[in-house]
Amino acid sequence: MEEIKFFYGDNIPLELHKVRVVQKLHLVPIERRLAALEEGGYNTFRLSTNDVFLDMLTDSGTNAMSDNQLAAMMQADDAYAGSQSFARLHKAVEEVLGKKYFLPVHQGRAAENILANAYIKKGSLIPMNYHFTTTMAHITQYGGKIAELLYDEGYVIESSHPFKGNMNIEKLEEIIKIHGPKNIPFIRMEASTNLIGGQPFSIQNLRDVRAIADKYKIRLVLDASLLGENAYLIHLREEEFKEASLGDIIKIMTDLSDIVYFSARKLSSSRGGGICTNELDIYREMEALVPLFEGFLTYGGISVREIESMAVGLYETLDETMIRQSPDFIAYLVDSLARHNVPMVTPAGVLGAHVNAMKVCEHIPQNEYPAGALAAALFLISGVRGMERGTVSNQRDEYGNETLADMELVRLAVPRRVFTLSQIKYVADRMAWLYENRELIGGLRFVYEPPVLRFFMGGLEPVSDWPQKLIAKFKEDFGESL
Ligand code: F0G
Repeated sequence: MEEIKFFYGDNIPLELHKVRVVQKLHLVPIERRLAALEEGGYNTFRLSTNDVFLDMLTDSGTNAMSDNQLAAMMQADDAYAGSQSFARLHKAVEEVLGKKYFLPVHQGRAAENILANAYIKKGSLIPMNYHFTTTMAHITQYGGKIAELLYDEGYVIESSHPFKGNMNIEKLEEIIKIHGPKNIPFIRMEASTNLIGGQPFSIQNLRDVRAIADKYKIRLVLDASLLGENAYLIHLREEEFKEASLGDIIKIMTDLSDIVYFSARKLSSSRGGGICTNELDIYREMEALVPLFEGFLTYGGISVREIESMAVGLYETLDETMIRQSPDFIAYLVDSLARHNVPMVTPAGVLGAHVNAMKVCEHIPQNEYPAGALAAALFLISGVRGMERGTVSNQRDEYGNETLADMELVRLAVPRRVFTLSQIKYVADRMAWLYENRELIGGLRFVYEPPVLRFFMGGLEPVSDWPQKLIAKFKEDFGESL
């Protein structure tokens, strides 16, 4: 992949696209931002985009779509059954992911629901490199448990290890021996492991997992939601693949997996999801569940327009200029913040830059949610909406006890081709200021806690008047600036 050098030595990522449709943003005064936090229970999921300046909550369904994706939406074939749009998507799945059987679903977690329904029962154990919130919720919903098998280095927040998402092979074999292969319906590998900071695994690691899966005759499931980005980092970091194209790397990863599922909200910058495989038996095990939960087998709950954009988006994941833009901007943001000593997840991963809230807010006990507090504080002083990825995002154990997260992170998502470099510089500036003033941030407590996936709609409040103190300092330093 080519590098573009600047003559005077600037080391900045250059946009290889142009902006043709724009949306006006709102940078509202800090008083309004405080009111918005109060109305939204200090939970960034509950903010309205009317109050948000830079929406770094997620890349899910928020990546910029290409002109070709939008154009494709106009030729959608609206049919309940046998739609040509589905045929085009099916062909894209075959060509890009190398799988001939395809089940469409309305988004990634719907794929997880179908997989869990088909394979998980009480006593099932699913080894995985690391969980994702919705994955775990579906597995536990059907009576299963998970085993997270990262190497120790996966948990080291500031590190130079290139593949922190690798699965611990020795532990995998050990756990299979303890629990017995018959209680393990599948092993799950998540590309660009989301909750540990968008960290990739290597092809070598996937090959090793495959060898164990073969030895014990267990199926291997790949969560491919962030497959393109994992492939890009393999290209950058794994010697054997320095010359390989994204398409080749993607195919190697999917070939090693029996079942590939994905959120198209991420993978193909559209909305939808899917499950694919080359084995008819596997397809048959899940086929009947799609019309039950999603919709007929040729649309799976996805609008035909989105099906068209998904097909084009899948081919576009092979385009390095599209895939690398977000990871390159993330690396730029992580470097900028590291220069101001803000503790970050390193190496820079994909999906977003991840701030280590456990360290920024080391004065806040983990049961007062340091990452939730930092996300709220950042919104208050900047209008930048990040996402808590820490204890608030964890689920209570089966006895109702709080489980403290391994990491307290604030994720600043960088959806593909959405932000400009000056916006990224603004984020770095405000976050660096907040770090300087971190002692002013205080904890949060729940006032409303939903029983499932509580982080989405839960309501919290500050444990003291810390937001007012933070506002006072902001006014002192920024004067009348928004
Ligand atoms: N798997 C991974 C690795 C994900 O990151 C997500 C979603 C899903 C599955 C579920 O897909 O949202 O389409 O139902 N991640 C989003 C995020 C929500 O913000 O990181 P979905």
